[in-house]
Parts: sequence; C-alpha cells; structure tokens
Amino acid sequence: MSVCVLSLLLSLLSLESLAVSVGPSNSSSGLCTASDQCLQFQLVCRTHEYEVRRYSSSRWVSTDAEAYFLGVGAAMAFRRLYHYISGANKEGVTFEMTAPVLVEVPEEVKMWEPAIYTLSFLLPSAYQERPPTPTNEKLYFTEMPDMDVYVRSYGGWMLSITSRLHTHLLSRALTRAHAHFNHTHHYAVGYDSPLKLLNRHNEVWYVAEGEPVCGSNPTDAH
Ligand SMILES: *[C@@H]1O[C@H](CO)[C@@H](O)[C@H](O)[C@H]1NC(C)=O
Ligand SMILES: *[C@@H]1O[C@H](CO)[C@@H](O)[C@H](O)[C@H]1NC(C)=O
Repeated sequence: MSVCVLSLLLSLLSLESLAVSVGPSNSSSGLCTASDQCLQFQLVCRTHEYEVRRYSSSRWVSTDAEAYFLGVGAAMAFRRLYHYISGANKEGVTFEMTAPVLVEVPEEVKMWEPAIYTLSFLLPSAYQERPPTPTNEKLYFTEMPDMDVYVRSYGGWMLSITSRLHTHLLSRALTRAHAHFNHTHHYAVGYDSPLKLLNRHNEVWYVAEGEPVCGSNPTDAH
C-alpha cells in the first residue's frame, strides 16, 4: 500500500509524465490486442527465461479484495472496477478498458488468514491527470512509480495455479541469475478480456531492485 501513500504527492509533481506512459496499443509491441490504450514501456533486455522492462510512472484506479483464493477475490474486485469505467463515477463518464489489468499478490501470507489482493485498471491517457471520482468508496487511485520489472509471459488462462507456477519459475530464474527483486509481492498481469479464447497473453512481474540483471547465466551476470 506504500504505492498509494505516495500517489497523491507524486501525482502533484508528475502530471506531465503521466499522460505519456499510456498510449495507443499499436505502439507497444502487440501485447494489447483487445484494448485501444496500453501501458507503454521500454524493453531493456531479454533472456530465454525472462525480460526486463522499464515503465515510467502511471496512475491506476484500484480496489482491494480479501480472499483465500485469487479467483474469488479478483472477480468481485474486477466487477467494482468495471462499474467505475461503465459510469459509476460522479461525472458519469464511461470509457473503454485499457491494458494491462494488474493484480498485486502478497507473497507472505499466513495459512489461516485471507490475503489482500489489489486489482488495478490503468486510467486512459485522457484521465491520467484528472480521473473521474468513483461513487464506490472501495475504489482509490494508485501511482505506479518509475520502475524496472522482470517479466515472464505465458498463454492460456490466468488461473491461480498457473499464475503460481509461472511466479515460481520466474523467481527461480531470477535467483539463479543473482537478480535482486522485491520479494514481498508480485503482479499477476492480464491483457485479454474474459471473452477471448485463443492466444491469450498473461504475465508475472517482479519489481527489480537496483540495476536489472540481464544474464540468465550466473557467470555472465556481473
Ligand atoms: C497507431 O494508430 C494511430 C491511430 O489509430 C495512428 O495515428 C498511428 O500512426 C499508429 N502508429 C503506428 C506506429 O502504427
Ligand atoms: C517492497 O515492496 C513493499 C510493498 O510495496 C514495500 O513496502 C517495500 O518498501 C519494498 N522493498 C524495497 C526494498 O523497496
């Protein structure tokens, strides 16, 4: 939640840079086939196990879901966000869904407690600066800071179990490469609407700490 604490302060300082971090889907490497607007990034490097991307700051509308399983919490939170873009805001504006959709997943969860998942929709460039005011008090705005992320992509459905598998594979590859990343949470990242059946694209992200490491072989990591 430190991201949202920062959000108000940062948003006052970086209104200019916010709009450029969201752009048309055709300028961002074909990941966003289902939406008009997409989060822009710079590819830093790619190994056979992961890629490193650089994102500049952007603003999102977010909501938390408390649940024992990702799927259950995510469905409720998704509906809340979808209502917001469908007009459940004080200005009554509607806009198209953007890509990607982020789910922040905590990693240190006690077995007997539900986890808090945070779902976020990217605000389109026209609303990065002044987003419509949500009518549901469970919605809030977050600022994603400038950051480098380690990314692993996979196809099919973003089910709890496949997401966990790919998170494990990414974290293992990063550990082997001596890459430093924030272990407290990862992001489950979706690009497609639930209606799309083929060629679905999903990702797992870890936020890099320090200079990103691009070598997948420990001997050339430094
Ligand atoms: C992307 O689409 C916009 C409008 O749809 C167009 O103006 C622009 O030239 C396109 N850019 C690329 C790189 O194709
Ligand atoms: C890792 O992420 C958590 C949650 O966003 C944050 O509180 C913490 O400061 C981060 N750790 C580092 C070393 O940046």
